[in-house]
Amino acid sequence: MLQKILEAAEFLSAKISSPPKVGLITGTGLGDLTRNVEVHARIPYSEIPHFPVSTTVGHKGTMVFGRLGKKALMAMEGRFHVYEGYTPEEVAFPVRVMARLGVEYLLISSAAGGLNPLFQPGEVMAVTDHINLTGRNPLLGPNLEPFGPRFPDMSKAYDPALVELAKQKALDLGISLKQGVYVGILGPSLETPAETRFLRMAGADAVGMSTVLEVIAAVHCGLRVLAVVAITNVNIPERMKAVSIEEVIAVAEKAGNKLAPLLEEVISSLMVS
Ligand code: HPA
Repeated sequence: MLQKILEAAEFLSAKISSPPKVGLITGTGLGDLTRNVEVHARIPYSEIPHFPVSTTVGHKGTMVFGRLGKKALMAMEGRFHVYEGYTPEEVAFPVRVMARLGVEYLLISSAAGGLNPLFQPGEVMAVTDHINLTGRNPLLGPNLEPFGPRFPDMSKAYDPALVELAKQKALDLGISLKQGVYVGILGPSLETPAETRFLRMAGADAVGMSTVLEVIAAVHCGLRVLAVVAITNVNIPERMKAVSIEEVIAVAEKAGNKLAPLLEEVISSLMVS
């Protein structure tokens, strides 16, 4: 695994002039968040050695290098999910490549279902903490010592200073930014009413099929993480409605109009060049 990460990083570093300090992962319907990036290179995942290839509808499958808000950035347009058949290690692979290339801050966006009854579809939520209910972990197996410790601390997985920064920027932009706990499930089936009630009782405000494994890998290798989710639907156990992927993508795209300026402002304020 270590060798594969190093080879992918080496391949990419030969294609770029300045090492990225900020990493961005965009989720379902949110690939457009990179529209304002001053692009220096755009590399299909299929060209990067050992990189998994994206299969989900609404995901592009390219790595973008460039600048946003004057910061050197690399952005994944499209990500890997365990429900597609990728292993947790594959899901975490790009995060580790980012860390190897010099990324210090990882910003993650995804679509999620709301569990908090006060949420509305189309709202955005900063993740303050997570519950990993995927039953998987990217750190299983021998520890990658050069990347991080065997038992990484998760007491501040979602950097509180970055949540504060996002709150401040949301206020400046006039965007209502919710905060809450994200529960990661395996998918791809959506939740039953009983599961929805269970997840809510467990303390989660939003549920999705991504983010948690990437965040575990990111924290392991010392990245500072900010995750923001687009609430595409709100699930209330007593009156569950069918969730359609078309609707999830459409609402995520709309929420992207709020997420893009928010992330841009946050990136501009990071203490990196
Ligand atoms: N459940 C799980 N993942 C999701 C949902 C949902 O309701 N909406 C968007 N991603």
